[in-house]
Amino acid sequence: MPYVTETNLTDVVLARWQDIPDPRLRQVMGSLIKHLHAFVRDVEPTGEEWFRAIDFLTRTGKMCDDKRQEFILLSDVLGVSMLVDAINHRFASAATPTTVEGPFHIPDSPHFEHGGNMADGAPGIPCFCVGKVTDLDGRPIAGATLDMWQTDGEGIYEAQKGVDEPWMRGVFKSQPDGSYIARTVAPIGYTIPMDGTVGALMDHTDISHMRPAHIHFCLEAPGFRRCVTHLFQRGDQYIDTDVVYGVKERLIADFVEHPPGTAPNGETVDTPFYVVHYDFVMQPEAAAGRVAAE
Ligand code: BEZ
Ligand code: FE
Repeated sequence: MPYVTETNLTDVVLARWQDIPDPRLRQVMGSLIKHLHAFVRDVEPTGEEWFRAIDFLTRTGKMCDDKRQEFILLSDVLGVSMLVDAINHRFASAATPTTVEGPFHIPDSPHFEHGGNMADGAPGIPCFCVGKVTDLDGRPIAGATLDMWQTDGEGIYEAQKGVDEPWMRGVFKSQPDGSYIARTVAPIGYTIPMDGTVGALMDHTDISHMRPAHIHFCLEAPGFRRCVTHLFQRGDQYIDTDVVYGVKERLIADFVEHPPGTAPNGETVDTPFYVVHYDFVMQPEAAAGRVAAE
């Protein structure tokens, strides 16, 4: 083995890692070493800067537990979460695109009947999500589950509200004709958690730390790929600067204002309300061929 110099160090390290038995680990580590060394050669950190970088990562790790995942947040604001999501969901162009799940999904939400209200007692403007769930050819998918979660009209998720009962989340099912109706309240834009290392990093920038108003959905149906996505409110002031890069054009929906009156689920609403019409198109499990990256 040659003794190391600044020039040959990367090759020496790569050579040592190139014969490890697990082929995937070999590929991952080879690429990691190559890119990490290139980054250090590019940045040329001082010893003090390198120590600060290690300290940042250490403090980020210490903030993580079963309720808070600062590393995922770091991956989100660097666009890595969206890149991993895109690589793993190369759906047909007609299918509803996916986007990041985010940290606020809670499993086992209550089930609601067609048109039920998952925001009973929550502050905000009443909002009805209506549409169909279909396959790529427009055929209705009956019995698809639509697991929904979102902030209330004050920008608060259940995890932030500190309540014992489910808050602003629910599971709906598509009907035999593929239709679904869910009553909720309109969400509003909100900030990512800024009290940790990621917030401190963002504070050194003038990058927006806001997410535009959105409703999360996870659609599942036998024979189809799970689709974790959001619907974003068209016109939201943060739509072009989402801090986690989650907005895709196809996921921007009109929140159409209606005067008091009969809502899509047949009930009478005595205040103005929104109707969001969105048809979800699901990607079959075994679609022939992969679709090229967009
Ligand atoms: C969210 O959609 O709730 C979210 C996603 C990524 C980071 C923070 C929040
Ligand atoms: Fe969210």
